Amino acid sequence: MRRIQFFDTTLRDGEQTPGVNFNTKEKVQIALQLEKWGIDTIEAGFPVTSQGDFEAVQAISRAATKMTVAGLARCQKKDIDRAYEALQEAKFPQIHVFLATSDIHMKDKLKMTKDEVLASIKEHVSYARTLFEKVQFSPEDASRSDKNFLLEAVQTAIDAGATIINVPDTVGYSNPKEYGAIFAFLISNIKSDQEIIFSSHCHDDLGMATANALAAIENGANRVEGAINGIGERAGNTALEEVAIALHIRKDFYQCETGIVLNETKRTSDIVSRLSGMVVPRNKAIVGGNAYAHESGIHQDGVLKNPETYEIITPQLVGVQTNSLPLGKLSGRHAFRTKIEELGYTISDDEVKKLFKRFKDLADKKKQVTDEDLIALIDDQVRSE
Ligand code: KIV
Ligand code: ZN
Repeated sequence: MRRIQFFDTTLRDGEQTPGVNFNTKEKVQIALQLEKWGIDTIEAGFPVTSQGDFEAVQAISRAATKMTVAGLARCQKKDIDRAYEALQEAKFPQIHVFLATSDIHMKDKLKMTKDEVLASIKEHVSYARTLFEKVQFSPEDASRSDKNFLLEAVQTAIDAGATIINVPDTVGYSNPKEYGAIFAFLISNIKSDQEIIFSSHCHDDLGMATANALAAIENGANRVEGAINGIGERAGNTALEEVAIALHIRKDFYQCETGIVLNETKRTSDIVSRLSGMVVPRNKAIVGGNAYAHESGIHQDGVLKNPETYEIITPQLVGVQTNSLPLGKLSGRHAFRTKIEELGYTISDDEVKKLFKRFKDLADKKKQVTDEDLIALIDDQVRSE
C-alpha cells in the first residue's frame, strides 16, 4: 500500500476565506487538533504577511511535537528569511516557496518573462535550501501553465534543491482527467537522483477539488494539500476529510493508506467550524449534519434491517455517535414504530396504525416531526381512548 501524506493548510489557505481570521490561540488549538487527527505537515501561515501570522507560526512551531511545520514564502529573500525566523523552534521545519508559471500570471501579475521566472526559482529555491533541509516548491497556477514550461520550472526547482513539488490548481479550473495527466507527465519526465514528493493542491471553483486530488493520487501524487471543511479563498480548497475517508472507504480502488486518525474527523471539523465561524452545510460529505441521517421510508426500513443498505460510512468511523432516522412526511411505519419504542412506549399494532395516520397528517404540515410532537400525539391518542 502506498502511504499518502496529508498537508493541511487550514491556517494559511483556509484563513484566506473572506471573513475568517484566527488569532494565535485559536491557531494553536486547531494545529494541535490537526496533529491529533494525524496530518504529516501543517502550513502554519505566511510569516512575512503580518506580525500576527509570524507569531502564530512561532507558537505552532513550539507546540507541535510530531508534525512538520511549514511556512509560506514568495520567491523573495525577505519572505524566506522571515519564514526561517518564525520556524526556528520547529522540530521539523519546512519552507514552501511559490512562483506563478502560467502565461496570464507571468505577464499580467508578475510582469516577468519566462527566463526571469526560471532565474528567480533557481535563485530562491537555492537560497531556501541553504536554510532548510525540506524545501517545497509550487508553480502557482500550474494547471493553466504551458506543460513544457511547467516541466522546465519544476526541473529548475528540483535542480536547485526542492524535494517536494506541489502542483496547484490555483483557480479550480482543472478536471480529474486533465489534472491527473499533469502528474503523470511531470513524474515521468523529471530527472532527479533524489526521491521527489509530488503533491496536489486544488481549489473548488468547479466543485472538483476532491475528485482532482484523488486523480492526482491515482497518477502518482503521494501527498495531498487541503483544508478542513474545504474552507479557503473563493469556493475553497480540497476538503481533507473527504480525501481521507474516500481513501479509506475505497481502499480496494486506491490501494493507499494514510496516517489519519479517522474517528477524530468530526471533532476536527467541529473545532474548525466553530473557530472560523464557517457553518458546515448539513448536506456536506463526511461531516455535515445530515451525512448519517435517513428520512425516507424505504431508506429507513433498509437501514433498520441492515445499515449497509444505505450507509457506506459508519458514523462511528468519523467520530459521530450514531446515525439518525428523522421523521418527516416521507418516513415509513418501520422507523415510526422504532422511534415510539425508543421513546419508551409499548403499543399495539392497531394503535400504531391509528397513530401513523395522525403522524402523516401532521408531517404533511411540518418539515420535521420532533420527539415532542410524537409524545403529544401519543398522549392525546391515549386520552381519547
Ligand atoms: O492555490 C495556490 O496556488 C496556492 C499557492 C500559494 C500554493 O495556494
Ligand atoms: Zn491555494
